[in-house]
Amino acid sequence: MKKKIAILGSTGSIGKQTLEIIKKNKKNFRIILLSTNKNINEITKQIKAFRPKYLIITNYEKFEYFKKKNKKLKIYNNYKCFKKIFPKKIDYVMSSISGFTGLQPTLEVIKHTKLIAIANKESIICGWNLINIELRKNKTKFVPIDSEHFSIWSLADNNYENIDEIFITASGGPFLNKERKNLVNVKPFQAIKHPRWKMGKKISIDSATMVNKIFEIIEASKIFNISTKKIKILSHPNSYVHAILKFKNGLSKILIHDTSMKIPIFNSLYLEKTLKTYPTKLNIKKLNSLDLNTVSIKQFPVLDLIKYFYSKKNTLLETVLVSANDELVDLFLKKKIKFLDISKYLKATLNLKEFKKLRSKKPNNLVQITKLNKYVRLKTRSLCVRSNDNA
Ligand SMILES: NC(=O)c1ccc[n+]([C@@H]2O[C@H](COP(=O)([O-])OP(=O)(O)OC[C@H]3O[C@@H](n4cnc5c(N)ncnc54)[C@H](OP(=O)(O)O)[C@@H]3O)[C@@H](O)[C@H]2O)c1
Repeated sequence: MKKKIAILGSTGSIGKQTLEIIKKNKKNFRIILLSTNKNINEITKQIKAFRPKYLIITNYEKFEYFKKKNKKLKIYNNYKCFKKIFPKKIDYVMSSISGFTGLQPTLEVIKHTKLIAIANKESIICGWNLINIELRKNKTKFVPIDSEHFSIWSLADNNYENIDEIFITASGGPFLNKERKNLVNVKPFQAIKHPRWKMGKKISIDSATMVNKIFEIIEASKIFNISTKKIKILSHPNSYVHAILKFKNGLSKILIHDTSMKIPIFNSLYLEKTLKTYPTKLNIKKLNSLDLNTVSIKQFPVLDLIKYFYSKKNTLLETVLVSANDELVDLFLKKKIKFLDISKYLKATLNLKEFKKLRSKKPNNLVQITKLNKYVRLKTRSLCVRSNDNA
């Protein structure tokens, strides 16, 4: 029987890679739902290639325009349609919308699928306690799609109590060996040019600032229920190793794979079937030059922010971090702030008295997190504006 698939954020980097894997074995998959914010060109190509049953286009203008031109297609403008379009659980959902916006659909789709693969790290960071409740309540399997978390998940093989320390790797982004003083005038096109990974703009900027590694430490801490103090970063420019697990029994395991998100995605799609082989060769040359090093806080001072996130439990401070960063990355991409302002204002926002209070407050529901997200974005923006006015 064909696996029924939905992809939230199908026009992005992860969404497109998921479809590329499916394309190689179309007879085993049926695409039920694809979604985009506003990329009409890409979704049009995807409709031709995969004939999805339903579409979601969240940008209202694009939705109206597209609907008028494609009267026969079943298109929705938001995620309220899940109950209607999924009368029974489908087999697989890829959650790959970027940023905080991914949280609501991720939470709402869990009850409609047997398995959810989550690439949208922001939703895990802000709402893991809520996601976890939904996963348990609905007996939905979960696979993390961030390469480091997929690696930890594979290596641990459900033996989480035996983990002593986790090491995740960082390619270092485009500015690994650059002095901070040389980053003052970095332009968006330079910051999104990642030396190893081809990713969406938002995560590429997060990699360049190293905020991505803070995200990943918090993400690992939530998923695997381990203190952030036990999760370390190692710089690793050739990006062959994704995670190292040191176990309490004296053994350590390393996971290597090519620098492609297609490998974690492939594995999540073929979880129950080992019939298919991923075409890859062991790269001995890379294995002989792993070059793993500790990362200096002096060079990436933003890493110091991890000290606010020692609790394994979810707090509302994670929403402050993600929301402020979403806003700052947007402002940088629109050339309203400078590259180094991202880490400067991120720290300033987290240190605001009203947000410090949230360091021990548990998120209770989506409405509360969403309200906070809007407020933090406004507050961060006004911090930047005030500071620019005073400059
Ligand atoms: N790319 C990677 O290699 C990678 C690796 C690990 C984890 N991740 C995580 O996976 C997620 C997706 O990353 P990506 O690189 O694939 O991002 P991306 O290329 O920017 O794609 C994002 C997708 O989300 C949609 N989207 C964006 N804003 C939206 C909104 N407001 N409402 C509805 N849909 C919206 C986009 O639609 P449009 O096309 O219309 O903008 C697109 O389909 C992120 O959370 C990222 O951190 C990515």
